Amino acid sequence: MAVLPVRLIGDPVLRAQTSEVGAETARYAGLVADMLETMDAVRGVGLAAPQIGVSLALFTYDDREGNRGVCFDPVLEVEEGTAPEDPVREGCLSVPEVSGVVERAGTVRLTGRDADGQPLDITASGLLATIFQHEVDHLNGHLFVDRLRGESKKEAMRQIRQRDYGNKAQSLAQKRAAAVSSAFGAALPGERSGR
Ligand code: NI
Repeated sequence: MAVLPVRLIGDPVLRAQTSEVGAETARYAGLVADMLETMDAVRGVGLAAPQIGVSLALFTYDDREGNRGVCFDPVLEVEEGTAPEDPVREGCLSVPEVSGVVERAGTVRLTGRDADGQPLDITASGLLATIFQHEVDHLNGHLFVDRLRGESKKEAMRQIRQRDYGNKAQSLAQKRAAAVSSAFGAALPGERSGR
């Protein structure tokens, strides 16, 4: 297993539509193990394959309340008109040190395949629902900052310009040092953030 470098905003792989994995999920066992290890190393709550430079439709997740795993070829059904009771301040390992509240559905249904290639069917609310929406966005080339609005969008764009991430991967050694507050999923006391 290995902790992998995470691609940053500006890297085209984050903007590409991912390809379906299909039935042969077993061949990606090593990739999944590395993604879980990478996610854990930064105490993230989710990691999508494009974030480590792989343009395939899978992501790992861990809401720290017992829901942990991988989803291949996810299909997300969003329950319209629902909103999270406790909106999550999102961040993203690919947009370090930027965070914001995105309008998300409060309840979603995720289907796909799990680590063993078996059908996965999870109805989620709360943090897990937000994680699923954030990660599936990644697989379609979207980042959470795309979905910010108004002042929070302006502020995020300003911070992104200021930081000038460039087209480079950030080493997780740096990332660890830079503190977990940027990891969507680095659950801070009283504030849940980032994937
Ligand atoms: Ni993310």
